[in-house]
Formats: sequence, C-alpha cells, structure tokens
Amino acid sequence: MTDAEVETLSESQEIHRFHDAVNDIRGAIVIDSTARGPALGGCRVWNYPSFDAAIWDGRRLARGMSYKNAFADLPFGGGKAVVCTPAGSFDREALFNCFAGAVEALGGRYITGEDVGTSVADMEIVRSGTRHVFGLSPTGGKVGGDPSPWTALGVFASMQAIARRERRELSRMTVAIQGAGHVGRCLAELVADAGAGIVIADIDRARAGQVAQDVGGTSVAPAAIYDCAADIFAPCALGGALNAETIPRLRSWAVVGAANNQLARDEDGAALLERGIIYAPDYVVNSGGVINMTAEHLGHSRDWVRNRVNAVSERLLEVLEACRRDGVTPAQAADKIARGLIAAAA
Ligand code: NAI
Repeated sequence: MTDAEVETLSESQEIHRFHDAVNDIRGAIVIDSTARGPALGGCRVWNYPSFDAAIWDGRRLARGMSYKNAFADLPFGGGKAVVCTPAGSFDREALFNCFAGAVEALGGRYITGEDVGTSVADMEIVRSGTRHVFGLSPTGGKVGGDPSPWTALGVFASMQAIARRERRELSRMTVAIQGAGHVGRCLAELVADAGAGIVIADIDRARAGQVAQDVGGTSVAPAAIYDCAADIFAPCALGGALNAETIPRLRSWAVVGAANNQLARDEDGAALLERGIIYAPDYVVNSGGVINMTAEHLGHSRDWVRNRVNAVSERLLEVLEACRRDGVTPAQAADKIARGLIAAAA
C-alpha cells in the first residue's frame, strides 16, 4: 500500500511524496517546471541521512533539469525523483514497482530515467508499471539504453572546446576525475584515448583502481583528488564537490565534469572565478544523457544524438563569452540564459 502526498511550494515546485510502509520505501518526485513540456529527469536512489535531505537534493536537481533541458533545446521541463535506500538488504523490485506507481499517478507530467544508484535493469522494472520512462534497453537498432556514454561524450567535447579556447592541447594534459561510476569510467576512456593522463578517485577504491588500470592512469584516495596537479578537475560523483573547503585546494585551471549541482553554494562560483579557474556549468555540459533519452522518445537517430551532444560544447563557449562580456560568473551567465529560455516558452 503506497501513501502519496502532494505539496505545492512557492517558486512553483511541486513535491509528490510516496511511501510504502511494508517495504520501507520512501521517496519523492519533484516537478520544477513544465513550461517547455513534461518534466524530464532521472531517478536517484541514495542512502540519504534523512528524508528532508533527499527532498532538498531533489529540489536542487529538479531545478537543474529545467535549466539543462532548456539549454539543450529539448521539448521538456525539469523534474527529478529521489528515493531513500531502505535499511539493510531490500527488495529492489518492490522499490521500483512502488516508484513506477508514483510516476504513473502523475499521468505523464513527469518522465523518469536513470541517475545515481539506478540502472537500465531498474528502469525495465519501472516500465512494467508506467510508460513514462526512458533509458530502456534499445530494441531493433533504435537508440536508448544507458545514457552515461553520451553524458561523458558531451563533457569530453566541452573539455576539448575549453582546451582550444585556451590554446592548450588536451593530449598534453592531466585530468583528475572524481567518481569512477558509469560516467566517470566512460569519460576516463575518452580522455585517455585522446592521449591525456588520468588520475581518478572513488569512495569505492577498488572501482577507481580498476578504471585506472584499464585506461593506464593512477588512482588516489577520495580526499586526495582535490590536491592533484591536474589541468582539469572533472567532478563525476555527487553534488557539492566545489565548496569553501575544496576550491582553495584545487590546482587545476578548469573544472569540467558531469556531476549535477557541483557548486555547493552560489558564492562558490565567484570563488572559482577569483582563483582564475574556468568553470563549465554542470547542466550546460552534462546534457548528453537527456539528449539520448529524447531521441529514444521521439525516434531520432544515433547521428542526431551525436550532433546534438557535440553541440553542447558550442553552448558552453557562448556561456563563457557572456560571462566575459557581462562580468559575471559562468554559473550566473548560464542561469540567466536558461531562465530566459524557460520564460520564453512559458
Ligand atoms: P554512478 O552512481 O554510476 O557513479 C557515481 C560514482 O561516484 C560511484 O562510483 C560512487 O561510489 C562515487 N562517489 C560517490 N561519492 C564520492 C566521493 N565523495 N568521492 C569519490 N567518488 C564518489 O553515477 P553516474 O551515472 O556515473 O553519475 C555521476 C554524476 O553525473 C552524478 O552526479 C549524476 O547525477 C551526474 N549525471 C549523470 C548522468 C548520466 O548519464 N549517468 C547524466 C547527467 C548527470
């Protein structure tokens, strides 16, 4: 039995909570904006310290999705689902069945897919309870499946664009990657193929060690990634990696990564600027995955996805130009553009 509760917040965010007491499943779907279309954003399953912490994360992530989808010129608004990992060993099928019910209850106003802690197999379970889900196994030569390689490609293309802008060669650089999960691994492979050095860290140290071994890089302890002598720092784990404690430690001249909500606070964008570190706003460069999900939904080809993902780096250069022209941080420049795109659609 699932209890659902709805709360509409100021700033027009809606929070749809769901709870399955029998299986100890507690989660929420946050709809941030439907101005451009149904709210699209993945489902995060994480061991949150509290349900309030999950909601807070979901709200920030949903806002980021609205901006991301607008920037990538996709016909979607922004939303996100967060689910607290139940204590101990738990029934994964029950969890995603419960979540599917919550998605279905919204009648298509929210569309889900993978995020941290979920996989294609999980989305297949969700599909048995609702059709409002992407990131499913591709069939008959169509696009779909794990969005991570596309996300990594957009981040990689953005690194190349920044390198060109700064007249530096990626092949002579070292990239420090935080997080050796789905995106971190794909990104490490692309960067290593381009001839750059890799330093990688993950709280799962064996995972980081394996990726390092596979790409010919080195792995370091999770806390040490901020101190590495790397040209580019690539956050590909959870949000908040760029904060008052970590920014002074960075030895990179650029930050380009996939993680959502990399800046812990707005002020951290200014702190990066003061240190002369170029920041590629997360939602501008990590839209490869939603571009692939859009193609899955609308029946676009793999070439369409590739072109759109490669164009992500052009958006980034526009943001950096606006930031130089207006004397604001990249995050401020990007937020202004995104808000304008959403307002125009509304
Ligand atoms: P994932 O769950 O496959 O990998 C995340 C990795 O980060 C895990 O290996 C985890 O152990 C590690 N990690 C967590 N905290 C850490 C810490 N403090 N230090 C080092 N490692 C830590 O997730 P995925 O799919 O690779 O996503 C990574 C990030 O990129 C997330 O923030 C996600 O929201 C974002 N993102 C992912 C997209 C995708 O297509 N998968 C699309 C857009 C954004």
